[in-house]
Amino acid sequence: MNGKQSGQLEESRENQREKEIAVEKILTSQMQWQETIDAISDYIFVIDRDRKVRRMNASFSRRFNTHPRELVGQRINELFSLEVPHEKCALDRAIATRAPVLDEIVLGDETYMISVFPSSFGDEEVYVCIMKDVTEMKRLRDKIYHSYKLVSIGQLVSGVAHEINNPLTGILGFAELIAMKTGDETVRTEAVKIRTAAERCRKIVESLLCFSRQQKPCRSLEYVNDIIEKALELRAYWLRVHNIEVVRRYGEIPMAFLDIQQIQQAIVNILVNAEQAMADRPVQGRLVIETAYDAETRRITVRITDNGPGIPRDFIDRIFDPFFTTKPVDQGTGLGLSITYGIITEHGGTIRAENEEGGGASFIMVIPANQKLPEP
Ligand SMILES: Nc1ncnc2c1ncn2[C@@H]1O[C@H](COP(=O)(O)OP(=O)(O)O)[C@@H](O)[C@H]1O
Ligand SMILES: [Mg+2]
Repeated sequence: MNGKQSGQLEESRENQREKEIAVEKILTSQMQWQETIDAISDYIFVIDRDRKVRRMNASFSRRFNTHPRELVGQRINELFSLEVPHEKCALDRAIATRAPVLDEIVLGDETYMISVFPSSFGDEEVYVCIMKDVTEMKRLRDKIYHSYKLVSIGQLVSGVAHEINNPLTGILGFAELIAMKTGDETVRTEAVKIRTAAERCRKIVESLLCFSRQQKPCRSLEYVNDIIEKALELRAYWLRVHNIEVVRRYGEIPMAFLDIQQIQQAIVNILVNAEQAMADRPVQGRLVIETAYDAETRRITVRITDNGPGIPRDFIDRIFDPFFTTKPVDQGTGLGLSITYGIITEHGGTIRAENEEGGGASFIMVIPANQKLPEP
């Protein structure tokens, strides 16, 4: 090998090394990018015009519990079982306009914010999509919205209820007087009818005032199990009339700082609904009341379950709204659950409804307890 040849060899080795370094740099950079997007818990993926998945981050493939290799080439609508009408689909809009689109989509119980950004792989049009789970955020937003709504309806209602109360007292009083004084049997019957109707109005006004009550609760240390027993006593007659079996599963729970009247009212409202849901059904009514205490969170859970028809899925988000009712006028005002909701929230607790697997509805209240467990 002469000097020139060895020089060339040296040069090509140098080139080779440079190339290797360049390749390594590219690979490292690629890996770092992949690791970057894999660190993001939102779903990030790229699809083509046919909506077929081309690339994705780890969070995306984890959702389907499948190796990314298997997901490449699959259609996004099929993966998510999306059945979105064309004009509403964020993807369709992004494809049509080639402009970024931001939208909210609901997948079962989850809500996602989806952003679609048009991009390209060389000459090919692709779309970069980011899906962010906003389920919890949406729940909080709904809760805030709900409490705003409650406050404004409460103010409106309390004004109206006070206005109605005075003339109503007059109607009731005079109807009673007429019934007492008259010698005419027809007039008496009619006066009694007026009184009954006016009494019904008064009951509604009372629950309206109860719903919109602004006064703070008057609290003391109480046992929730005892309050439930009192509420059951109040409903004992009706539970018997409807032949409803009551199953008690009381846990050992500490005292809680609460307004006994209000909590009782909150529970009675749930019991009345359960009775109504279970009445006139072929199966025997069964009411299960469970209480439990979680020492870690220091919270008491009360779960009341019936074996009625359950709450229709379409309504489950609205049942705590004031005036929401599915019952005929003489049976429901739609105020029971919103009163219960108000009371429980005012006690720093939460309430939610669930449907049971085999039918029936469950109402779950979680309220803060006092720290100490009762003495054995
Ligand atoms: N245990 C239950 N089972 C099925 N549906 C229920 C139950 N409790 C409440 N609901 C639904 O929630 C609605 C609202 O309840 P509520 O606020 O108490 O008003 P109301 O009882 O006057 O209708 C009811 O009309 C009913 O559709
Ligand atoms: Mg009710």
